[in-house]
Amino acid sequence: MSNAIEVRKLNKHFGNRQIVKDLSLTIEQGKICGFLGPNGSGKTTSIRMLCGLLRPDSGTGHCLGHDLIDNYPAIKKQTGYMTQHFSLWKKLTVRANLTFLARLHMLSAAEKRIDAVLEQMGLTQRQYQLAGNLSGGWKQRLALAAALLHQPRLLLLDEPTAGVDPNARREFWHILHQLAEQGITILVSTHYMDEAERCHQLAYLCWGTLLATGDIPSIIARQNLQTWQVRGENIHRLENTLRSKPGIQYLTRLGNVLHVTGNQGDVTEQTLRAYSNHYQLTSVETGLEDIFSHLLNKYEQQGG
Ligand SMILES: Nc1ncnc2c1ncn2[C@@H]1O[C@H](COP(=O)(O)OP(=O)(O)OP(=O)(O)O)[C@@H](O)[C@H]1O
Ligand SMILES: [Mg+2]
Repeated sequence: MSNAIEVRKLNKHFGNRQIVKDLSLTIEQGKICGFLGPNGSGKTTSIRMLCGLLRPDSGTGHCLGHDLIDNYPAIKKQTGYMTQHFSLWKKLTVRANLTFLARLHMLSAAEKRIDAVLEQMGLTQRQYQLAGNLSGGWKQRLALAAALLHQPRLLLLDEPTAGVDPNARREFWHILHQLAEQGITILVSTHYMDEAERCHQLAYLCWGTLLATGDIPSIIARQNLQTWQVRGENIHRLENTLRSKPGIQYLTRLGNVLHVTGNQGDVTEQTLRAYSNHYQLTSVETGLEDIFSHLLNKYEQQGG
């Protein structure tokens, strides 16, 4: 399997602020890579560098076999980019938006191609509605249709489901998986953990520095955190008590259940065992949210 994206040590400054620091990223063809990180970390900036819209200050690499620096127009041609904010024409119909874009791409057999993407996105019935009148979920599908019109091999999707309801997000992700199965490579930024879990691999960027990459099990395993699910009466009292105890790092309440995460295996367990007469303890896998909080905390403690 070849790599659709392979970049090394990309850097980008705006003025004297360094926004992206030595970004190295590899994504295999046909895989979905989730791009995560706090607001302002440089995800959009990185995406724009990968599709040739922004020139890195330094670094090397290739996308779709084309050199990122010398041959970025070729990358642009074969990449579909969905911007963070809806950028289509609200006063045009769904179909007219796609017709206009097809002209910009100088597509041959445009009408046939438009019919195909409308069908693929389930938009055929809505093709004569004004884009501005679509609900959030359908707007995002139109934006994806627009990104797919010229049959790209790489999709760069910048928070494509922000503010979209869970059902519409689920359907959107079903489409993304279908596209990946057809061999399209997808880099998708998101702040949703359930979406991160749907990816083949993740990249976690924090203030310009990539703190973790790889598949989810390996990212979780590398942090060596242990999580316990705790159930019982008056869980809020236990939560307050545990805060200052040894081996306890993160406490997350999920209704009547408390998730306790620590990074000192035996110490964490010992602390919890002291309460096992009143509470039921079960060892569970550490969630991605705790993993990312942990990465961020470690980075900030090191003066990142
Ligand atoms: N053209 C620009 N000129 C100057 N600064 C910029 C420019 N574009 C982005 N920035 C700054 O670079 C930093 C990173 O921005 P970027 O949009 O890449 O982050 P992000 O990770 O996509 O954030 P979010 O999750 O909020 O979308 C921010 O501080 C932003 O203000
Ligand atoms: Mg962004």
